[in-house]
Amino acid sequence: MNEIPPLQKTLVVIKPDGVRRGLVGEIISRFEKRGLKIVGMKMIRVQRDMAEKHYEAHKGKEFYIGLIEFITSGPVVAMVVEGVNAVRVVRKIVGSTNPEEAAPGTIRGDFAHTLPHGGKNLIHASGNEEEAEKEIELWFSPDEIHSYTRVDEREVI
Ligand SMILES: Nc1ncnc2c1ncn2[C@@H]1O[C@H](COP(=O)(O)OP(=O)(O)OP(=O)(O)O)[C@@H](O)[C@H]1O
Ligand SMILES: [Mg+2]
Repeated sequence: MNEIPPLQKTLVVIKPDGVRRGLVGEIISRFEKRGLKIVGMKMIRVQRDMAEKHYEAHKGKEFYIGLIEFITSGPVVAMVVEGVNAVRVVRKIVGSTNPEEAAPGTIRGDFAHTLPHGGKNLIHASGNEEEAEKEIELWFSPDEIHSYTRVDEREVI
């Protein structure tokens, strides 16, 4: 039928290593080509308090301090990505946390190699719907999230 299935929004962040390596366009195009819609996007330098909020769940872990240093070490590109089951679909496009385990064809599996101290694995994506909602609220204000129609929408969803 013609009914549009329920859409989800999820947060994607191209981490400082992705920006420094010139992979922004390559990464964004993977989501666009898949038919996912970018409804918010900006380049920012994450401040320490924001990084600590974002990675609150990892506080106390052995990689936490290095992770905060890394995510604040240079600009990142943050996006809100929308689509049918977007949270799950985006995680699949991103691949496993440790690039050594990430399947070829995923972003981490194609462009990263291992998980060095500091957690350089190119990209962040919300882990579940609850995380997505919280993270979008932390990273974007409502007026930075847009609504528009892609010309291919009827072909891909
Ligand atoms: N063992 C580790 N050593 C170094 N860094 C790590 C390790 N585990 C996680 N990290 C870093 O912390 C981030 C958050 O870890 P998490 O377990 O949430 O993985 P993820 O959900 O795949 O990644 P993200 O939340 O960034 O999308 C990882 O992406 C990575 O940058
Ligand atoms: Mg995570």
